Amino acid sequence: MRKEVGIYKTTILDYILGYILLLQGDYVVKLEQCQMIDLPKIADPRGNLTFVEGGGHVPFEIKRVYYLYDVPGGSQRGGHAHKELHQLIIAMSGSFDVLIDDGFQKKKIHLNRSYNGLYVCPMIWRELDNFSSGSVCMVLASNKYDEEDYYRDYNDFFRATRIQK
Ligand code: TYD
Repeated sequence: MRKEVGIYKTTILDYILGYILLLQGDYVVKLEQCQMIDLPKIADPRGNLTFVEGGGHVPFEIKRVYYLYDVPGGSQRGGHAHKELHQLIIAMSGSFDVLIDDGFQKKKIHLNRSYNGLYVCPMIWRELDNFSSGSVCMVLASNKYDEEDYYRDYNDFFRATRIQK
């Protein structure tokens, strides 16, 4: 079932507190840290080649690689945030949309190239959808799988953004 960002009981106080933090400069705009990263592309008539080196092309050491594939049309993946994990999301094949949300602002990015990727820093709620047929989403991650690192409830994530420095 599709989860929608924003389905949580936000109170006016949550927003007021958040924007006081913004005005005080206590809050780093995390969405701005999530940038597209261009990877090297060795163009060749026999087929192109792209490579990724941990600590070089991505701003973290790569400790894990996982990928989503055989995604049925209309599916949504993601729908969580990570406390400390850094990630690079690449459309290895086909295309899909990534919604990123730092608790203050949201942005949707369409990924459709295998020679660039979206860097997602910690404390970003993310959702992936609009997968094209046969698409493959590869994620390079800075740490091994750890369920303790997840926010799976948007409400918990949202509140945590209000105490971030
Ligand atoms: P999850 O990260 O929750 O993906 P999504 O939010 O798109 O559903 O992962 C789905 C399941 O796979 C979950 O039970 C945890 C497991 N998993 C691992 O065991 N190792 C991994 O590296 C990842 C990413 C997930």
